[in-house]
Amino acid sequence: MSTLNQERVTSIRHWTDTLFSFTATRDPSFRFANGQFTMVGLNVDGRPLLRAYSIASANYEDQLEFFSIKVAEGPLTSRLQCIREGDIILVGRKPTGTLIQDNLLPGRRLYLLSTGTGLTPFVSIMKDMETYERFERIVLVHGCREVAELAYGEAAVNDLFANEFLGETAREKLTYYPTVTREPFRNRGRITDLIMSNTLFDDLGVPPLDAATDRLMLCGSPAMLTELRDILLAQHFVEGNHSEPGHFVIERAFVER
Ligand code: A2P
Repeated sequence: MSTLNQERVTSIRHWTDTLFSFTATRDPSFRFANGQFTMVGLNVDGRPLLRAYSIASANYEDQLEFFSIKVAEGPLTSRLQCIREGDIILVGRKPTGTLIQDNLLPGRRLYLLSTGTGLTPFVSIMKDMETYERFERIVLVHGCREVAELAYGEAAVNDLFANEFLGETAREKLTYYPTVTREPFRNRGRITDLIMSNTLFDDLGVPPLDAATDRLMLCGSPAMLTELRDILLAQHFVEGNHSEPGHFVIERAFVER
């Protein structure tokens, strides 16, 4: 059996010159855990051209959703950004990834820290009822260069807050904290700096990070992942994985892109 499903594109939305999202049909046999990624791509010259993409939809939703950068010279994204409703995309049948709840020890607060399209797995995780059952408070931090790059995440949070089933719980427990580095905005600065200066915690009205209570998931720019990991290790946080849950987890699947 093929390792790829063929799915039909159901919608495309362009958010900026460099960011777009799209939805596609979901094979009923395709199962995944919220926060995982899978291979996504197109047939190019008769061969599959694939990249790892986090799934933005939750595992109970009928459609698959993805959020992507557009790279003008990128072999896949230069083509993928031109897809239209009804086109066929390829979706790997074996999702995987580190950003899953079972890789974290129990805790009180869950920080979902992302830059750029690293936000995507957290869109799935914030739509998961289990997230709200496991944690008292969830903080979604999204760092971008410019305000316009926040639009997809902002819309996803607004949709969640308006959701008939999850909205009330999410509004009570989830705090969305967007931050911008290269133009004026209400929250400014790199995630690393906001943590080291305690600005993030002061703004949230919570104590600084503490391995006894706080859990973190990290996804985004490789430099941010390296720096944040060092910050956490220095504060005696332990990195979790599939064999041993820890205080924080990192998705490294996209680091080579
Ligand atoms: P900055 O504008 O100061 O470089 P990129 O588009 O390059 O992936 O960056 C996305 C966001 O991640 C930007 O706001 C960028 O800030 C920030 N960023 C880049 N490197 C780091 C890092 N080492 N630590 C924290 N944030 C970072």
